[in-house]
Amino acid sequence: MPSLNTSVSLIRANYLFQTKPYKNLVAGRIPQNFIDDLISRSDIVGVINARVPLKRKGKEFSACCPFHNEKTPSFTVSENKQFYYCFGCHAKGNVIGFLMDYEHLSYIDAIESLAADAHLEVPHENDSFAHQDKLDKQPLYDILKLASELFQQQLKTSERAVNYLKQRGLSGEIAKQFKIGYAPDGWDFLISQLGKTKDDLLHLSKTGLIVNKENNKTYDRFRDRIIFPITDQRGRIIGFGGRVLDKGEPKYLNSPENAVFHKGYELYGLYETRVALRKIDRIIVVEGYMDVVALAQNGINYAVASLGTATTTEQIQKTFRTTHEIVYCYDGDNAGKKAAWRALENTLSVIRDGMVAKFLFLPDKEDPDTMVRKEGKQAFEQRIIDAMPLSTFLFENLKKECDLSSNEGKAQLATKANALIQKMHNSIFKDLLIEELSSMVGLSQQLLESKISSTIENKKIARQQAKPVRGQQVSNHKTRIAIALLLQNPFLATEHQVPENFREAFTKGLPLLYKLQKIIETNPTMTSAALLERLRDDEHETALNKLAVLQTPETENSDNIIDVYTDIIKRLHYEDRDEYLKHKINNNEPLTPEEQSEYLKPPTK
Ligand code: GTP
Ligand code: MN
Repeated sequence: MPSLNTSVSLIRANYLFQTKPYKNLVAGRIPQNFIDDLISRSDIVGVINARVPLKRKGKEFSACCPFHNEKTPSFTVSENKQFYYCFGCHAKGNVIGFLMDYEHLSYIDAIESLAADAHLEVPHENDSFAHQDKLDKQPLYDILKLASELFQQQLKTSERAVNYLKQRGLSGEIAKQFKIGYAPDGWDFLISQLGKTKDDLLHLSKTGLIVNKENNKTYDRFRDRIIFPITDQRGRIIGFGGRVLDKGEPKYLNSPENAVFHKGYELYGLYETRVALRKIDRIIVVEGYMDVVALAQNGINYAVASLGTATTTEQIQKTFRTTHEIVYCYDGDNAGKKAAWRALENTLSVIRDGMVAKFLFLPDKEDPDTMVRKEGKQAFEQRIIDAMPLSTFLFENLKKECDLSSNEGKAQLATKANALIQKMHNSIFKDLLIEELSSMVGLSQQLLESKISSTIENKKIARQQAKPVRGQQVSNHKTRIAIALLLQNPFLATEHQVPENFREAFTKGLPLLYKLQKIIETNPTMTSAALLERLRDDEHETALNKLAVLQTPETENSDNIIDVYTDIIKRLHYEDRDEYLKHKINNNEPLTPEEQSEYLKPPTK
């Protein structure tokens, strides 16, 4: 079916564009002053401390670096500069960079995450794609919400639907909490209620609530089904799952992917969990809608379900942003084991020290819904506590496939385990897995480690190497110090302005200094972190990141920093003019009378 393929690839292209925007494409769309403001409102110490516990050490904070293995802390966070730096692996950046690297967020997602913490809505510039995108999506959210309200109303009027839910043990209260509804039988319930105008029909069709037939006819997607609304992180309804009441095919019908609903990114019940609990010690990931609801009804209100697909890395990341422990709970049958293994693979590429993943397999023929109703909250929670650690599940499963009494079997195990461990970030947990593997196959850890080159770290290095450092290099020592001073203390720009002719100065680095001056002038109270943010993707980004943490007697001397800076700028100015004039003289170019007198003037101190 070529037409289907085309539309699928279109949806995918569209989907990729919307969810993984290239930061360059989109960065300009969020007003720069919003990002400045966001960074100056955020506290990097708080943000990092919530993820990597920090200890105060003099003026700064420190911890063992989350980006490489170490036993003594060389990761430091400066409250003043709103910047982190690791003396061991040289990881560095501001709060946005930290979130991007630590939580694997895209640039936009990191901004969204910070903004959400500050209870701010990310604004978009008017003429932008993002703004248009928002305009396009709003009617979909609106109509989904209206549909959900209608379905909830319909539930009240349908004795059959109410009986079904009762018979499955659900209380009215829990049905209300999860906004469970009922889509009545018939082909045009929603169309007649919500499809009044051409636009309404278009929006209904875009959400997948109505289906278009070839002959220009439309009909409701959900008919005679119990409706489970799916919400996003902000509680907006983005799609529905619908279950048949009696026997019927398919048992569950889901909204199709659309502009606001991306199955692989959302988890049923996550929003409700966040609303119900402030501190979430663990989350259990189950397979079905009914499992989430039945668990909540039985007092286990921290379950989520992936939406009929394998649990994706995005879903796992999202969950780990909410809690430190995930317990995957799958059926004990083969399909359940398979789903668990997929979850394990995806978890490995996400997990970091401090995060815990476990696996809970239920007895045959049981699912969380039936189990919790049978044995109650306490017994079920005991199962959760006794769940199998990820490492056990990993090795038990691999061992099953390999005969460890032979070298061939051991090699096979090592190879398979390596392939999995390779996906992991460097962490103590990774070291422990290697250690366990080493004792199982009788190879030294060192040898195993040499075979496991972290693909992640390699990718990072490759990315860094690929980044071209074009244009001028900042080489002159004094220039470097001036830039470091200004970067670390943006207020200096208002204390002593960089001369206008630095813009096209002769000496390397001065135009960059001029550029910094001009950026700070747009917002004189900006922090170093905000300044660096403005220079993300600048040709000098790498150099600037280094200078932002450069420590020299000049940068550490905070008593007369203004004088030190003023002096350096004046000297740089003089030397630059001097170089320029000498250059002119050497090339037999005549000096103007002003240049003549300038050439003779000594530097002003
Ligand atoms: P109940 O029979 O209501 O208890 O369902 P369940 O929640 O136990 O669901 P089950 O274990 O059968 O399936 C788990 C999940 O897989 C469901 O919640 C759906 O998301 C999905 N699913 C199940 N059956 C279908 C189907 O026929 N089509 C689709 N698209 N998804 C399904
Ligand atoms: Mn079930």
